[in-house]
Amino acid sequence: MAAYPLRVTGGTRRFGPRGRQFTVFEDLDLTVEDREIFVLLGPSGCGKSTLLRVIAGLDDLDAGEVEVAPGKHGRDVGIVFQQPLLLPWLNVRDNVALGLRYRANRGAQEAGLIEETMAEFGLGDLAGAYPDELSGGQAQRVSLARTVVTRPRVILLDEPFGALDPLTRKTLQQWLLGIQQSLGLTVVMVTHDVQEALLLGDRVALMSQSPGRISRTWTLPTGERGRQLQLRDEVLRAYAEVASGAVAKPSGRSAGALNEVASSTL
Ligand SMILES: Nc1ncnc2c1ncn2[C@@H]1O[C@H](COP(=O)(O)OP(=O)(O)OP(=O)(O)O)[C@@H](O)[C@H]1O
Ligand SMILES: [Mg+2]
Repeated sequence: MAAYPLRVTGGTRRFGPRGRQFTVFEDLDLTVEDREIFVLLGPSGCGKSTLLRVIAGLDDLDAGEVEVAPGKHGRDVGIVFQQPLLLPWLNVRDNVALGLRYRANRGAQEAGLIEETMAEFGLGDLAGAYPDELSGGQAQRVSLARTVVTRPRVILLDEPFGALDPLTRKTLQQWLLGIQQSLGLTVVMVTHDVQEALLLGDRVALMSQSPGRISRTWTLPTGERGRQLQLRDEVLRAYAEVASGAVAKPSGRSAGALNEVASSTL
């Protein structure tokens, strides 16, 4: 491989005992390009979190293959969940440093990396604070920093802003865009928020009901976020189709509205 940081080919995952198995997703193909934000939408239960867990190596496919381009540390994927999952007995700095603790090649630059990442996430002033002293948005920034500190090849975000109020959510979306651009991160993000998907995504993919597949993919021209309302309607219509169990159209880039997106920037 090597051309892509992440590729899933013919991915199939089933749960349950043999004979009474439930197929979450089947024959799922997905390719994520270097330094892109790939956003995954889809009805509840279609298998988005399961797919992220498989990509992260926390679960295995029953059939098919996940290829992750090796980084400095080998299989190089970081994952952030909806809840920050910080260790309450460690302060902010030590929670961020935890991300590096399990890396094989911790080195002299470790302290530098931690300070650098704390600064990137605006956490310098909170270094000594404990999780119960943080707001939800601050805690989620620590969680993101703990993952980014390892500089993984691919970062997986599972509804990372889902538990935040709209204002904090908006602030963290801007943070994510800034950090993604400054560090050149490759991101796969799950969200239920179509507006968020269109705001952050370079590509937006819609997964169909179980057994899930990538039903449609929209490409947003680099640096352009125009005609969002029209797009939102198109995505919502397709979403309603897959949510109602209607037959999914084959995966592919929409030749429609997205390719004509007017050049206006955020
Ligand atoms: N470990 C497991 N054992 C058995 N079934 C599971 C397991 N993990 C997930 N499932 C089932 O697989 C299906 C997909 O779950 P998953 O959490 O991936 O959905 P999702 O798309 O992330 O949903 P949501 O949008 O609500 O987060 C669900 O029916 C769920 O109950
Ligand atoms: Mg989920």
